[in-house]
Amino acid sequence: MELETLSPNPEKGAETPQPKKVFVKTYGCQMNVYDSQRMTDALAADGYAETNVIEDADLVLLNTCHIREKAAEKVYSELGRIRELKNEKAAEGREMLIGVAGCVAQAEGREIIRRAPAVDLVIGPQTYHRLPDVLARVRNGGRVVETEYALEDKFEHLPQPKRAQVAKRGVAAFLTVQEGCDKFCTFCVVPYTRGSEVSRPVAQILAEAERLAEAGVREVTLLGQNVNAWHGEGPDGAEWGLGRLLYRLAEIPGIARLRYTTSHPRDMDDELIAAHRDLPTLMPYLHLPVQSGSDRILKAMNRRHKAEDYLRLIERVRAARSDIAMSGDFIVGFPGETDADFEDTMRLVREVGYASAFSFKYSPRPGTPGAEMDDHVPEQLKDERLHTLQALLVEQQQAFTASMVGRTMTTLIEKPGRQAGQKVGRSPWLQPVIVDEKVGEIGDIIEVRITRPGFNSLYAEPI
Ligand code: 5AD
Ligand code: SF4
Repeated sequence: MELETLSPNPEKGAETPQPKKVFVKTYGCQMNVYDSQRMTDALAADGYAETNVIEDADLVLLNTCHIREKAAEKVYSELGRIRELKNEKAAEGREMLIGVAGCVAQAEGREIIRRAPAVDLVIGPQTYHRLPDVLARVRNGGRVVETEYALEDKFEHLPQPKRAQVAKRGVAAFLTVQEGCDKFCTFCVVPYTRGSEVSRPVAQILAEAERLAEAGVREVTLLGQNVNAWHGEGPDGAEWGLGRLLYRLAEIPGIARLRYTTSHPRDMDDELIAAHRDLPTLMPYLHLPVQSGSDRILKAMNRRHKAEDYLRLIERVRAARSDIAMSGDFIVGFPGETDADFEDTMRLVREVGYASAFSFKYSPRPGTPGAEMDDHVPEQLKDERLHTLQALLVEQQQAFTASMVGRTMTTLIEKPGRQAGQKVGRSPWLQPVIVDEKVGEIGDIIEVRITRPGFNSLYAEPI
């Protein structure tokens, strides 16, 4: 009889209980995208379905980024808007919980509760596996801040996504293998928000990659703040680095493409470079941030290498894989940066030739050594330098795109195109490739010839 009261009987006219709904908004890096997926999986096990419509949500989660100033401010203004929504729903007698996750949550903690009265929970990146428990505590009354670094391994406690869920997310997937950072670049907040460097064990990574492959994933991007610092004990008892891990992942049936991001120049070892030479599965694209081309600034940033080391490293990578495309990150206007230092950065960019790159104005992050330094660069000068650098980077990117016309390459078909009759794939160099929808199914890898460049994309025909 107990059962009957639990399961509503349609014949008696009872309504089927609607699952609770969660709306997740993700800011920042790819790791946050991955984390949002894993949080959604954890919430699915707790009875929450995902929604893209914020108005329908019983729980709104903002997965935040703290890397630059405006990111946190955007979160606070977004919270202001969501608060109004929450009040409207409350007037209708419906509850909407608001949670802040991610790096702003970790860095600001209780401050969020103080500044944003509508927030019910604050949860840091190392405690996502406790989300269902945190929600239970919120429902028992009270606002919860959960930002202590957990002693247990969150990945051991997070449920794996269901096969259908993985398939819904597409044929290219992220997989975090390493998290946190011990390098303490003087501009960077990551060691404080993501904690110290941790590598996931080999068996855990292989199991997750195999699950992804079984669900139809063809391309896996390994993620880590210092992904090439990843290390672990292999099944052979030997110490493995990222290179060795890539060789092993390349053996998994179904996985046709591998990538990894973000790397630090100091952790590019011989085996990883050899993997670029030996593994056709490893895509010829390397995101290797240098931040500055000036040795003086590199030293002040605590990067612990010189511009020349970086250039020689790229030579070695290119010797291993001649068609590799380079990508990077740059910061202009770090404290003490002179015109001559900035010129060194411009020179380095000209020497490398980037296929794509991200460039930012230095933004002092509270608690980092850079913020305490003298000689901050005036905002206007930062603007000018950023403008000059970006003009060069855009020119290089366009030249790279133009050089693709007439070339043949593989393309992984990922999704329907924006226009009817088209599908969009991805080139080995991460460019969207637009093809006729009839050339193949999503998940297929086909040979194409590039016919013309589009806006940030390439048009292609099958061979
Ligand atoms: N100011 C500006 N840019 C920054 N980055 C990291 N911290 C800062 C900061 N304080 C940039 C770096 C890094 C990328 C993810 O963000 O270029 O590689
Ligand atoms: Fe932003 Fe860094 Fe956190 Fe990613 S790890 S969300 S880039 S602060």
